[in-house]
Amino acid sequence: MNSFHRGRRLRRSPILREMVRETSLAAADLIMPYFVVETDDPAFRQPIASMPGQFQLSLAELEKEVGEAVKLGLRSVILFGIPAAKDEVGSGAYATEGIVQKAIRMIKKNWPELVVIADCCLCEYTSHGHCGIIAMGDTVGRVLNDSTLELLARTAVSQAEAGADIIAPSDMMDGRVLAIREALDEAGYEETPIMSYAVKYASAYYGPFRDAAESAPKFGDRRTYQMDPANVQEAMREMQADIEEGADIFIVKPAGPYQDVIRLMRDSFDVPLAAYQVSGEYSLICAAALNGWIDRKAVVLESLIGLKRSGAKMIITYFAVEALREGWIR
Ligand code: PBG
Ligand code: ZN
Repeated sequence: MNSFHRGRRLRRSPILREMVRETSLAAADLIMPYFVVETDDPAFRQPIASMPGQFQLSLAELEKEVGEAVKLGLRSVILFGIPAAKDEVGSGAYATEGIVQKAIRMIKKNWPELVVIADCCLCEYTSHGHCGIIAMGDTVGRVLNDSTLELLARTAVSQAEAGADIIAPSDMMDGRVLAIREALDEAGYEETPIMSYAVKYASAYYGPFRDAAESAPKFGDRRTYQMDPANVQEAMREMQADIEEGADIFIVKPAGPYQDVIRLMRDSFDVPLAAYQVSGEYSLICAAALNGWIDRKAVVLESLIGLKRSGAKMIITYFAVEALREGWIR
């Protein structure tokens, strides 16, 4: 009698389950975000209230933190800068002595093998908190696309000059991958890859990040440049555009709430995909775990394996270092 499927046969022991396991997590999949602050206080280490376990760090504190993480097996970081002063045009983003440029130089000097990704955007550096510049005297506060491209290109080149291994534009201006690609090539960085935030939604899950990066828009919101959470066909067009403009790696962001999008991108395009498990996804898990409502390790690993299963290769996650430290992922 062979009338029903006995799925349990292959679940009988840990080794058997491991043998039939279809996806796995490896240290090389993980990218850890860091927030580095321009400050005179080398001991500056400010906890981010809405992201328990994450900190704004001085350059010196970042050095310690990254040193520990490298020992634990971390392969890659993505850097966000918080400048001492902001202005209308985000000059801190493309300053040779900008905080991210300094952090990149410090990390590459200490750990040349570590893959350093530079988030390329203006919002942490503009006084108004938008990802692009705003026309002088514009009372409506429209974010200008084409004049922003030039500044993003400058930012990318300054990051590459500092030694960044990968440039990751997160602004969602149209044409920025092409503008950055051309500028990098012209400056002699034709081998520097672009990791584009290709499919980036206007998400409430970025809330804690904006506390961390002090980058909340002072007026309006980002919905004229980031994508409508209701759309998926539009994601196809955004991916297509970034492929044509010459991006090398493609981010879907946020990750968990958009796993259908990750799967569709995996099935539709033959390109390396990264999922960004954003600040709000991190905070939700932390909050429930801190209340004792869920098993932190189990939920973290389930959330990450879900992203792999959906089709992402790389995962940008605030859990990266913890997962290595605790031995959850090797
Ligand atoms: C900046 C940027 C944001 C994030 C990454 N790069 C915030 C935003 O677009 O408002 C969000 C990351 C996170 O929430 O963890 N453009
Ligand atoms: Zn931005």
